[in-house]
Amino acid sequence: MQNLLITGGCGFIGANFIHYLFEEAGYNGQVVNVDSLTYAGNPESLGRIPESFKNRYHFIQADIGNTAKMTSIFDAFDIDAVCHFAAESHVDRSIAAPDAFVTTNVLGTFTLLEQARHHQNRLIRFHHISTDEVYGTLGKEGRFLETTPYDPSSPYSASKAASDHLVRAYHRTYGLPVTLSNCSNNYGPYQFPEKLIPLIILNAYNGKALPVYGDGQNVRDWLHVTDHCRAIWRIMNNGKNGATYNIGGRCEKTNLSVVETICDVLDRQVEPLPNGSRKELITFVTDRPGHDFRYAIDCTKIEKELGWLPRETFESGLEKTVAWYLENGNWVKRIQSGEYRNWIEQHYGG
Ligand code: NAD
Ligand code: DAU
Repeated sequence: MQNLLITGGCGFIGANFIHYLFEEAGYNGQVVNVDSLTYAGNPESLGRIPESFKNRYHFIQADIGNTAKMTSIFDAFDIDAVCHFAAESHVDRSIAAPDAFVTTNVLGTFTLLEQARHHQNRLIRFHHISTDEVYGTLGKEGRFLETTPYDPSSPYSASKAASDHLVRAYHRTYGLPVTLSNCSNNYGPYQFPEKLIPLIILNAYNGKALPVYGDGQNVRDWLHVTDHCRAIWRIMNNGKNGATYNIGGRCEKTNLSVVETICDVLDRQVEPLPNGSRKELITFVTDRPGHDFRYAIDCTKIEKELGWLPRETFESGLEKTVAWYLENGNWVKRIQSGEYRNWIEQHYGG
């Protein structure tokens, strides 16, 4: 994999993956980062990578649904591998306005697959990043396996399920060399502060209300983003052609306990608020419609076949994540004020 196309590389996981490739994995090929820069795309999350690796890192602002642009990128860069992150990713937004989810997650993935098919002679790998949400909800018992039937609940998870089916169909029908991964909830640096963990860190730090949906007893299985990046790279290099791998942290937590733990970490890392623990800020709010009760991943397959194991515990990962948001006040400020869009305006006129 010498000419790697990464879609959505200015988003949370994509940016972490590019950092990981250049700074930890020892990757020595070219990276072509294609991102349309929606509200969730922030080129500043790449830090100094564009300057430090200017001969090997290329950024192109483009929509994955634009056939002409995708064709020219596959041709110009002799793309031999794809790692496909680009998506609309926030469940609440998919409930409020599903259109973009179908356009990007379903049709955008379709356009990319068509380009991969037309350039199949030199393509070694098309890796599709997906989510555990395609499996729907669990009750109190059980875990998702790679063979668990799909049963998505939200427009987001339904659109991701559709894209997964397309990727598998291109493997079976056209022999496209694909791998897929379905991962649980990620947290870590550069996550847009609409998602639970960064939202709670920033609100709690600033003494604002901490919104918890319903009774806070819904369960998510948390994984530090760097562990996810290591798993993706291992699958891309060593995964079986056509295979799917579940990725998770074996780290189930209720939302309420996540919020309380963040309050404890902040109360320790910075001075407490004048009226006591930040837990006093917890506010139970109206539940998310169709809110899946519990996710839990069985990741035996990737552990046994590829020898992957997460390195961070939730405690170590959360300590580092809270510290990261406190130390990167400028990144946070520029997102919260909207200034992060300036780069895009300067380079592309908006
Ligand atoms: P994100 O919302 O932070 O980033 C998405 C990126 O895709 C942004 O940079 C955005 O500009 C870009 N993008 C959106 N539409 C595009 C389009 N039409 N063309 C080109 N670029 C476009 O998302 P994330 O949390 O980093 O998630 C990345 C992938 O991982 C998604 O496919 C998501 O479904 C999957 N995933 C996320 C999690 C999680 O916990 N965040 C867990 C499992 C799987
Ligand atoms: O499971 C993987 C998925 O995890 C990914 O596919 C999605 O892209 C990613 O956004 C994430 O989805 P969730 O809906 O689980 O993440 P979110 O951070 O939005 O919410 C986590 C849990 O916290 C969920 O049960 C809803 C709850 N929640 C969320 C927010 C934003 C709250 O209680 N309060 C909040 O303010």
